[in-house]
Amino acid sequence: MTVTAERPATPDWVATDFLTPAFFADPYPFYDRLLAEAPVVWSEQIGAWLVSPFDEVGVGLSDLRLSSGARIPTLATTLSPAARERNAEAIACMARMMSFRDAPDHTRLRRLVSRAFTARRVAGLSDEIEAIVARLVAAFPVGQPFDLRTAFAFPLPAMVICRMLGIDEVHLASVRRWSEAVVTLLSSATMTDAAADAAQAAVLEADAFIAQALTERAKSPRDDLLTALAQARDDGDALTGDEITAMVILLFFAGFETTEGLIGNGARVLMSHPHLRRALADDPARAEPFVEEVLRWDPSIHRQSRVSPVDTVIAGTPIRAGEPILFMIGAAGRDPRRFTDPGVFNPDRADAGNVGFGHGAHFCLGAPLARLESRIALRALAQLPTPLAPAGPVAYGALLAVRKPEAMPVIIPA
Ligand code: HEM
Repeated sequence: MTVTAERPATPDWVATDFLTPAFFADPYPFYDRLLAEAPVVWSEQIGAWLVSPFDEVGVGLSDLRLSSGARIPTLATTLSPAARERNAEAIACMARMMSFRDAPDHTRLRRLVSRAFTARRVAGLSDEIEAIVARLVAAFPVGQPFDLRTAFAFPLPAMVICRMLGIDEVHLASVRRWSEAVVTLLSSATMTDAAADAAQAAVLEADAFIAQALTERAKSPRDDLLTALAQARDDGDALTGDEITAMVILLFFAGFETTEGLIGNGARVLMSHPHLRRALADDPARAEPFVEEVLRWDPSIHRQSRVSPVDTVIAGTPIRAGEPILFMIGAAGRDPRRFTDPGVFNPDRADAGNVGFGHGAHFCLGAPLARLESRIALRALAQLPTPLAPAGPVAYGALLAVRKPEAMPVIIPA
């Protein structure tokens, strides 16, 4: 079909209430209003459609007619031509990542990477994750405020992904810097020249680091994911050096910023729902439904974008070819058409379900790892002999795609 009609008018509140400090502190009142009054709406501010209902988000994310590959070139149009040129390596590296590829490239990459990123490798990390969690928890001070993000939510997934890749912990600070630069560019509402400059510097540094690590493994292979990625074969096909670099940088930011956010958001629930904390402490099996409910109620990924190559219609709203579409995962979990009392956090809900890890061909590759880490982490926090308590307001960054506490002051009362 061809869209000939004018774009439906956007209500004023979509501009005034979106991307404000209040929105980043608590986006859910805005999402509730989107779901009720404007389930598919154009945002002039970011030049994209916002799609909020649960069903449309699930269907849209798994619709292979919508492109993931067109996302980077579309986003990059918000950069100045000079910034696009001087940051060409960063843009090319991101465009090589499998989350930004369509079939058949995506299918090929996913198949090769899945040979290395196996369920066995993830399950084998369980004891190690328990040990890291125990080490971090043992270092919590008692009787004085500390930042749960710095002491726990960030280092745990970062240590785990480094351990999995075979990267020494001394490089954690660099990996964090690279990851944050790329996340800032990809997760903000629009790309800015300054963010692209920072991402370019990070990609060049990470590229040199990974190339060196791969050279070492070519000489002496190790039992780590870097070696496995280099050795992955599918019918004679293998990942190129550039593809491995892009994959590893994708794992850095896909692997820990998101898990960090889920652990931080889950820890807040533990503090605000003492009866659920006690129930989880008494019965570790409750970690599974608890984490799934965090993925619905306060997930760490709030949107994923797609671009339609042809004119299309979503929930009766005509959308023109090339217009970016944001599937609002954070809003979808609060859809009253799908969930009874969506604002209530209830791990035992009969209508459980979420799109926190996406849906379809691009469904999160790291979901088993993220689930394992988050369950172990939140169970350990629930089982602290003296419960954590808030010691100040939680601060969130101005990222549209990732919701994670930037600072989370807590205290274990003496
Ligand atoms: C709580 C933690 C996590 C959340 C909420 C999350 C969320 C997501 C979502 C929503 C997608 C779908 C993207 C799309 O449809 O365009 C995705 C894809 C992906 N995730 Fe995760 N993720 C998490 C943890 C991880 C971890 C730990 C890893 C790896 C170590 C990982 C690696 C990936 C990769 C490689 C993709 C791309 C898959 C593809 O395009 O085929 N994620 N993730």
